[in-house]
Amino acid sequence: MKISKTIQEALNRQINLEQASAHAYLAMAAWFEQRALSGFGRWMRLQSEEETGHAMKFLEYLLDRDGTVQLLAIPEPVGSFDSPLGAFKASQEQERSVTASIYELYDLAHGEKDYATVSMLKWFVDEQVEEEKSVADMVDRLKLAGDRPDALILLDSMAAKRQEET
Ligand code: FEO
Repeated sequence: MKISKTIQEALNRQINLEQASAHAYLAMAAWFEQRALSGFGRWMRLQSEEETGHAMKFLEYLLDRDGTVQLLAIPEPVGSFDSPLGAFKASQEQERSVTASIYELYDLAHGEKDYATVSMLKWFVDEQVEEEKSVADMVDRLKLAGDRPDALILLDSMAAKRQEET
């Protein structure tokens, strides 16, 4: 079944959204690393790599369906934050908007009876649960840490232990 123009355009927009996320996480990583919080920096760098991986998954799927990939301009990311908590809250907003976009894509694919796209999107629906949870955990911990530098340094050490996804 040939992929529809509507789904193709939506997938191209999703590729762009994932690339924009990767860019935003890299800007967050740089912000943390400039402040000697290299654990959070590592966490953000790994997240940026994951987002690039998501963009590639969509791109490869589109090619597998004989669709046309159209890469769009990536907006300049926000590069400064009022606090570590502010940076993670920004990432939480970003993840929620990615989830909303994936749900819209899911509705669209379902409406068009494009079940191959529905099936591919299931992985992303599950992945977003994981992504939102890991960011929410960090937001909650940073709230608990409050203004205590010792707690912040401990959280930074924990963030440094994040493993690469295999
Ligand atoms: Fe690819 Fe974090 O959404």
